[in-house]
Amino acid sequence: MMQERLQLLFSREQIEQRIRELAELISADYTGRHVAIVGVLKGCFVFLADLIRHLNVDITVDFVQVASYGSRRETAGACTLVKDLGIDIDGRDVLIIEDIIDTGLTLSNLIADLRVRAPASIRVCALLNKQARRRVAVAVDYVGFEVEDVFVVGCGLDFSERYRGLPGIYALLPDEPA
Ligand code: IMP
Repeated sequence: MMQERLQLLFSREQIEQRIRELAELISADYTGRHVAIVGVLKGCFVFLADLIRHLNVDITVDFVQVASYGSRRETAGACTLVKDLGIDIDGRDVLIIEDIIDTGLTLSNLIADLRVRAPASIRVCALLNKQARRRVAVAVDYVGFEVEDVFVVGCGLDFSERYRGLPGIYALLPDEPA
């Protein structure tokens, strides 16, 4: 089995501070409005739980889960929802919450799917942004941290379903040979 090691990129304290800043920005932008928060499972759940507790606006929260594609299907452009919204977003201000934007394919497909439902607006908030890996242009309105082209885990992000519970964000690196 391949050995891995974790290298800390952002501590729990740094993440908490940044989430408070994001929540302030979002609260100011949506003053007096009611925001339909749409979390993208599974990776969003830790970030979303922390973020909404600092928001100072009315919200409803719901989740979608998007089928993960293998590389062959990356350009298919279809968005298959394993779990769809239970709320109607017609005329609503939608804020999508993502753990990380990598190629941008998941997000651009999801936005196209949600647009058909005629929301008043759609914005995106992501804990992490991996700009170097982008394959399709997507506007990310609120970004926690920029990361290099390295696989990251923790704070909801996984590698084969592991590491989601780590309070910090770590780069997952192959172990150095002895
Ligand atoms: P995209 O469609 O390529 O932008 O991929 C977005 C999804 O891939 C994210 O919501 C994550 O679930 C997953 N992902 C991309 N990069 C990473 C990473 O570095 N660590 C963990 N999950 C990742």
